[in-house]
Amino acid sequence: MFNRQIKSILKKKYKSPIVCLTAYSEPIAKILDKYCDIILVGDSVGMVLYGSKTTRDVKFETMLLHAKAVKRAAKKSLIVFDMPYKTYSNKFLAFKNAKRVIKETKCHAVKLEGGKKISGIIKHLIKKKIPVMGHIGLLPQHAVNFKTKGKNINQRKTILEDAIVLSECGVFAIVIECVIESLAKEITNQVKVPTIGIGASRHCDGQILVTDDMIGLSNFHPKFVRKYSNVKKMIEISVKKYSQDIKNKKFPSSNNVYNK
Ligand code: KIV
Repeated sequence: MFNRQIKSILKKKYKSPIVCLTAYSEPIAKILDKYCDIILVGDSVGMVLYGSKTTRDVKFETMLLHAKAVKRAAKKSLIVFDMPYKTYSNKFLAFKNAKRVIKETKCHAVKLEGGKKISGIIKHLIKKKIPVMGHIGLLPQHAVNFKTKGKNINQRKTILEDAIVLSECGVFAIVIECVIESLAKEITNQVKVPTIGIGASRHCDGQILVTDDMIGLSNFHPKFVRKYSNVKKMIEISVKKYSQDIKNKKFPSSNNVYNK
């Protein structure tokens, strides 16, 4: 039932690290598509682009628009749609919405946050031929705090159990967010599908970050993010120069106007 991209991602476990990032727009997706195996249209869009305090505010219709833009631009990568809060509260609602995602955006798969508790919903989607990516550990749609998970023995047991249940349900990959390194390693060794870490160590089969954090455009600076550039600074410098040029009558020049 899996498409070409998913099959190639499954094959990468134990062989080659899986590269993933988030995208919400056409120009970013076009760049990412050259280097990523998976592009996630994350519900982090709410916090990153719309300034919300939580991902819970993200509307399904908003996500559909961003997903269409990303899918239009990306030709090679697997495109995963992050199902927003309350769009998969039961299996019927989950299927109705996921079916719409696949039909309208042409994304290849959906991602749902949660483990054992939502396994019935995940199984139903997979039975209906919708590829699902799991997400365990810190669950931003439900988190009361953003602390690392898996430090105490009960939490560790629950998260490991979540991973095993999801793998048995038939998800094609599992995002592990903000868990302690030894737990991410244990999960990665125990489950047969690839694990994709975010703040969960190099032991995972792949890594994902929010692109805007990685390029230094967002205001979020957790320890697990490596900042590869400072785009915020680059924009600031450009806008400052533009403003000065207008005030000093240096822009537009004769090169920037139509003379004929
Ligand atoms: O919404 C998102 O961007 C995510 C990633 C952080 C995994 O779920």
